[in-house]
Amino acid sequence: MNDFEKSLKKFSNDFNAVLPSFFPYPKGSEKRVSQAMYYSLSNGGKRLRPFLLCKTAEIFGIDKKISLSPAVSLEMLHTYSLIHDDLPAMDNDDFRRGNPTCHKQFDEATAILAGDGLLTYAFEILSKAPDIDNETKIKLILLLSQRSGAFNGMIAGQMLDLQTEKSPSLSGEEVIKHIEEMKTGCLISYACQAGAILGKATEEEYDVITSYARKIGIAFQIYDDILDVIGNSALMGKTIGKDVLQDKLTFVSLYGLEQANQIAKDLISQAKDVISYFDNSAKDLYSLADFIISRNN
Ligand code: IPE
Ligand code: IPE
Ligand code: MG
Ligand code: MG
Ligand code: MG
Repeated sequence: MNDFEKSLKKFSNDFNAVLPSFFPYPKGSEKRVSQAMYYSLSNGGKRLRPFLLCKTAEIFGIDKKISLSPAVSLEMLHTYSLIHDDLPAMDNDDFRRGNPTCHKQFDEATAILAGDGLLTYAFEILSKAPDIDNETKIKLILLLSQRSGAFNGMIAGQMLDLQTEKSPSLSGEEVIKHIEEMKTGCLISYACQAGAILGKATEEEYDVITSYARKIGIAFQIYDDILDVIGNSALMGKTIGKDVLQDKLTFVSLYGLEQANQIAKDLISQAKDVISYFDNSAKDLYSLADFIISRNN
């Protein structure tokens, strides 16, 4: 493990340790859906988006005590997107984060509701985040709604991803870039932009963060697509080889492994140049860029 991986591991251990404090344990009729929500949320995951949010906020001197609630909220929203992504009507996956997917562990209806539950609870956690002024909170709530939403946000990306399975006419670099940017890039951008908003970044600083985030966001999904071909299923905790089986449009299907890898590498190199603007205070974001295209899960 290199220094960055140790730092991410420590972050995720700390993050997992505080998660239960954000989670009510209702009894009776509400119990099943909250169990399913917590099952998917607590079941591992790299915690990359919360890490990005907290580390970006840290550039501006914002303590993790303040950035933690927005970070937890984002991980809830991301986990909802995974639960729904795995459903039979979408990617139909049996494994996630090294365990049976939510609909396999529970059932389909419960998984749909667990996803809905995490989506709505994410906004509750964000609204109740301590020590953040209301104006900043409203900005975060608006941005998270947009980035996760159906109009150029994550949901739009997921829709287009599914549409390409059935329409060979929906192809080409423009389409795939748009998909990757929306389905994955949007929440990664939100992570970084939320950190900058918490830190009351200047317009110039916000633009730098946004440019970095867009590049790593696309590279992250390109590398996810690469790992779907060359990855180790046990390490990744999910089934691989699904994209080809399901006729997904990806950078790999369009350009092949080698060229897709080169595109991701170029984006990462550009992202590192961009984030160098902040010198040493952004060293975690700098290292994270390299991690995106060297990870094995
Ligand atoms: C998986 O995201 C879904 C994509 C957007 C590619 P991650 O690879 O961050 O999954 P976890 O959170 O670590 O499980
Ligand atoms: C999922 O992309 C993106 C979202 C969940 C929004 P993928 O379908 O490629 O993610 P994996 O490979 O199942 O994790
Ligand atoms: Mg998918
Ligand atoms: Mg999937
Ligand atoms: Mg994938």
